[in-house]
Amino acid sequence: MSDEFLRWGLDVIAKVGFGTDYNVIFEAENPFLKANQLVLSAMTRCVRFPLDKFNPMSRGFRQDARAAVRFLRKTGRDVVEKRLAARSNGEYVNEDDIIGHMLKASDYLKNPEFGMEDILDEFVTLFLAGHETTANTVAFMLMELIRNQDILDRLRTEIEDVLCGRTEVEFEDLTKLSYMSQVREPSLFTAGGQLRNFEQPPCQP
Ligand code: HEM
Repeated sequence: MSDEFLRWGLDVIAKVGFGTDYNVIFEAENPFLKANQLVLSAMTRCVRFPLDKFNPMSRGFRQDARAAVRFLRKTGRDVVEKRLAARSNGEYVNEDDIIGHMLKASDYLKNPEFGMEDILDEFVTLFLAGHETTANTVAFMLMELIRNQDILDRLRTEIEDVLCGRTEVEFEDLTKLSYMSQVREPSLFTAGGQLRNFEQPPCQP
């Protein structure tokens, strides 16, 4: 399931943030997934083995990682160009997703402080930061649910009550899935199910 969640994570970020359907979920060997995974492992390697960049034996890996970064940036550039073309053709474009906000911030790429390369930095960062973190969280959550049948049952009941037989989740449903929030982010809640107060206590003189 972990692999499935990785692919699903990419699809969700692509859809929600960039209005794009990659359908990575249907392809075990998807090049976009492979490039993301390779870049993540290259980042980890840089931290764990800082001198690896001087290692001639790792040259092939470094070349592959650079090619993967170029591929991710090219994918992002295609998304930006497609969005700009749709806008100049007078088609409907969503200005409220992440790419929409970034394009507005770029003054539709006329802003010298925030241009195409900056948008591509953000594009790559969001996929790298977002997909594996989310996939691992959901995979662990599933594993714990399978180990804790009582929690799984209570969660299932809440979902059935909120969705009332619907198979699609609406945005408004999310606020009603309060037990789901506790399962998903237990550190935010007390043992009694109350949202923790994270406010700093006032400084004592
Ligand atoms: C359960 C899922 C996630 C976990 C556990 C997680 C965890 C984290 C953590 C621990 C940090 C570092 C925060 C710090 O510097 O103190 C971080 C930063 C970040 N995350 Fe996530 N994240 C998740 C999902 C996402 C998603 C879905 C996205 C975007 C699509 C995302 C984008 C980012 C970005 C851009 C940063 C860097 C923020 C900055 O310092 O500028 N993350 N995340």
